[in-house]
Amino acid sequence: MRVVHSKQELSERIAEWRQQDEHVALVPTMGNLHAGHIALVKLAREHAERVVVSIFVNPTQFGDGEDFDDYPRTLEVDKRRLKTTAADLIFAPDVDTVYPFGIDQATTVSVPELTENFCGASRPGHFDGVTTVVARLFALVQPDVAVFGQKDYQQQLVIRRMVEDMNLPVTIITCETIREDDGLALSSRNSYLTEEERATAPQLYEALKSVGEDLQNGRRNFSELEIAATRKLADAGFEVDYFAIRRAQNLAIPDRDCDDLVVLAAARLGAARLIDNIVVTV
Ligand code: PAF
Repeated sequence: MRVVHSKQELSERIAEWRQQDEHVALVPTMGNLHAGHIALVKLAREHAERVVVSIFVNPTQFGDGEDFDDYPRTLEVDKRRLKTTAADLIFAPDVDTVYPFGIDQATTVSVPELTENFCGASRPGHFDGVTTVVARLFALVQPDVAVFGQKDYQQQLVIRRMVEDMNLPVTIITCETIREDDGLALSSRNSYLTEEERATAPQLYEALKSVGEDLQNGRRNFSELEIAATRKLADAGFEVDYFAIRRAQNLAIPDRDCDDLVVLAAARLGAARLIDNIVVTV
């Protein structure tokens, strides 16, 4: 698996593909790749002849006291994992390549409103870091399509809005969440769970599914459902950040007759902050 670190090497490779009229898909990641990322690569390949996986632990999307320093950096293992996939190239830039004027002097991209609640409220500045780095990766790679995971539901909505609002020439594709056999959504942060916490963790998805079933069965007392699920998770040992039923399209508070819903949750279990969601079409 070829790895490039510089803008120059990346452009040369992409220019070769463009000369052959090949389309390029980008899978942006922070590395420590798991089966969820591999599914993104597979889906990317269905939409383009060439797939670039970027691996960059983006400092600007981590807040003070978050896990930037501890975030697992596993480039050699990631390279081996990608060898057997449809990826053509790993782009692993350093901070200076992504932020040539330095982080403090960087031009930032900020999506209002959609970023105010949920992960945006509990992680101030996080989405500005995400949109800023994704816009930069788009400028560097110039992909035709880019693939993001549904697990980060709010993130993919924010990126879609950025792309639409700025007329960026890239199509955003969302890949379904890949789960362990017991339902826990795959995440690099699952490695922070102790054995006991790991046994508890699938209850987050159980709670989402149970509320999803209630919604399918016609229940519309949204806040009661949210409160009951939050209480249940707290009793199981989660520190719940949010558990919310919203319009799938824009995270607005739904009317009773809304038929396109998303149930979103974030909860801390020891050192791990888990997020998950399910889309419910009724
Ligand atoms: O979802 C992620 O891993 C990151 O937020 C992303 C999109 C790669 C930007 O750093």
